[in-house]
Amino acid sequence: MKIFVINGPNLNMLGIREPSLYGKRSYDDLCSLINKHADEIGVSVEIFQTNSEGRMVDIIQSAYKSCDGIVINPAAYTHTSVAILDALKAVDLPAVEVHISDVESREDFRKISYVRAACVKTIAGKGFEGYTEAMDFLAELCFSACSGKK
Ligand code: DQA
Repeated sequence: MKIFVINGPNLNMLGIREPSLYGKRSYDDLCSLINKHADEIGVSVEIFQTNSEGRMVDIIQSAYKSCDGIVINPAAYTHTSVAILDALKAVDLPAVEVHISDVESREDFRKISYVRAACVKTIAGKGFEGYTEAMDFLAELCFSACSGKK
């Protein structure tokens, strides 16, 4: 089973940007955690980060027939992008929306998520561990739905 983890704008600045909200760990630390967890649960993972909306649409489209599920933190595009919502609907793969911070307790505009309508689950406010929780969720979902398929 294969999972795509897709990260949006400014997440490459983790550890530098607003540490009180996003913590002191870096983007490389996040990738290490994801790769280690993938090994532990026996799934294969590919991690992407882009600061551009169009590139994020391209990455989501490339998931079609290439993986079994998507973990996505669209970052600021969560709150603005119909294009990312449409791309997720187009590929029709189980997708989990992840936010490091608790978006519900922040500014009102962060309470709006365009992508949520195409996601099976949302995890917010759990720091980097939200990603591993999302991977566990997808692994369980896919292992029960496509048992035997690698
Ligand atoms: C974020 C929350 C978004 O509102 C923000 O624009 C981000 C990161 C998070 O992971 O908490 O860039 O998605």
